[in-house]
Amino acid sequence: MRFISCVVAALLALPATAQDAADAVAPEAATQGQFEAISPEVGKALSAKAAGRPVAAQEWMVAAANPHAVQAGADVLRAGGTAADALVAVQTVLGLVEPQSSGLGGGAFLVWYDAASGNVTTLDAREAAPLAATPRLFQDEDGAPLKFFDAVVGGRSVGVPGTPALLETLHEKWGRLEWPSLLQPAITLAEGGFAVSPRLAGLVERDADRLSRFAETAAYFLPEGAPLQAGTTLTNPAYAATLRKMASDGARVFYARGEGAIGSDIVATVQNAPGNPGVLSEWDLALYQVIERPAVCASYRDHDVCGMGPPSSGALAVGQTLGILNQFDLATLGPDDPQSWRLIGDASRLAFADRGRYVADTDFVPVPVQGMVDPAYLAGRAALLFGDGALESVSPGAPEFEHALLWADDEALELPSTSHISIVDSFGNVASMTTTIENAFGSRLMTNGFLLNNELTDFSFRSHRDGVPIANRVEPGKRPRSSMAPTIVLRDGRPVLAIGSPGGSRIIPYVASAIIAHIDWGMNVQQAVALPHAVNRFGTYDLEEGTKMEAMAPELEAMGFTTGVRDLNSGLHAISIGANLQGGADPRREGIALGQ
Ligand code: GLY
Repeated sequence: MRFISCVVAALLALPATAQDAADAVAPEAATQGQFEAISPEVGKALSAKAAGRPVAAQEWMVAAANPHAVQAGADVLRAGGTAADALVAVQTVLGLVEPQSSGLGGGAFLVWYDAASGNVTTLDAREAAPLAATPRLFQDEDGAPLKFFDAVVGGRSVGVPGTPALLETLHEKWGRLEWPSLLQPAITLAEGGFAVSPRLAGLVERDADRLSRFAETAAYFLPEGAPLQAGTTLTNPAYAATLRKMASDGARVFYARGEGAIGSDIVATVQNAPGNPGVLSEWDLALYQVIERPAVCASYRDHDVCGMGPPSSGALAVGQTLGILNQFDLATLGPDDPQSWRLIGDASRLAFADRGRYVADTDFVPVPVQGMVDPAYLAGRAALLFGDGALESVSPGAPEFEHALLWADDEALELPSTSHISIVDSFGNVASMTTTIENAFGSRLMTNGFLLNNELTDFSFRSHRDGVPIANRVEPGKRPRSSMAPTIVLRDGRPVLAIGSPGGSRIIPYVASAIIAHIDWGMNVQQAVALPHAVNRFGTYDLEEGTKMEAMAPELEAMGFTTGVRDLNSGLHAISIGANLQGGADPRREGIALGQ
């Protein structure tokens, strides 16, 4: 027997306090990199990006957030490695040169197109809450939510890292090259040194107070008490030693206990964090597993847009936004018509309303996954947009669901750090992986040369609202809801686009708009990732500062939207797959695409 979900709590938009906190913590500042010295091909890729051109190739391609990491991935692909092999090299170098965004102390989601079988699958390596965590983890003695950074900085926010286990798992499933060889590029850079990028230096400067709270973190990022400067040659011998252990013993060194085990150091660092210790234990590490889950796919035009289901809200919210817009002719309207942005903005708001009500870790709460991307349900939601003006208010819908449920709305902030990697290999496999330690520099705790995540603050700090439970509340062993949206778009069962972005919950509109730009407006991937942003999640329509979107504010205001102008610092990395491969790297970040 089928029930329609019973939901009675009123839509409660993100409260002023939480929205204010989100605004106060702006996305990572945009900085420019100086990477030409790495290789001639990196220099060419940087020139293409500066000129607004995609990089073209025939056999393989890799696009990611830092040229050192992209070079490492390209070298692996050139040596005959698969996209899985290249991911290991790219991620381990990113953890060194872009440590504020992702690394061995964090988690990730991978969407994988397997050329041999023609299947798309996903791997969930999201951080897990400790078994000793309770729904009151982020509340004070009176049950009031903690201030965001009081929760983030220290051991309380650290979940079990998933990234080391993910790298080993994907290599075992789909790798070809020898595991130690894939860690060597990062070991070489960590021992030989690399130039601190302007982006990293700028972020260290901005976060110096928090980074100075813990001795190991301060010693690395603030040597002799001063923030690292751009261009300084930085080595990380502790990270190299970690990678050498990983090369010889595998990812188990992160999850095992005992003398010399990295896992024991992680636990000690969390439990002894001065001022804000956490409850992570060696049992939590020992029990951690990467979970293979079916991809969540939504129909858009004549494509299937496939991505990461719960605990990520990414594929559901991107799929809902596109599924609603499927009812409208955006191709004819075009990117310069404010009506396009009315529809995109309100479709996004409707998707965020459902996300806030329903989406959490499906191993702990039932989620109406299929109902949320059902074309008939989305056509009904689209009918709400048949007028000319902005929706006055937005509420969650009632997707078909085999459970009767009563949930209140969520208020997790999900502030942006994170990084996205897209890879196509010469065998036709496609990887789309978004990887994170959550906030920039995560919990600010460091051990063995890498930072520990603060992913648990992606849970709702409140467990209930007016006595009604929140789906994304903290529970022992549960994985916090994410917005990460690693995506592979297929047409007639064949992959045509790999894409994703960092950006906290803004990831969802970033990815949806870039897909629209590519499919509806015929933009190549470089144009699509560079498209000025307009982001509407909770009612205020954010327009990207310094772009032509700013000029659309009066027309959007006249429709009834409240607009704001801000830095919208995405990090979209995309590869289109057709007669050739074309790679695009977000001009707001330091990344590039390389191919052959
Ligand atoms: N921590 C960012 C996300 O998972 O969406």
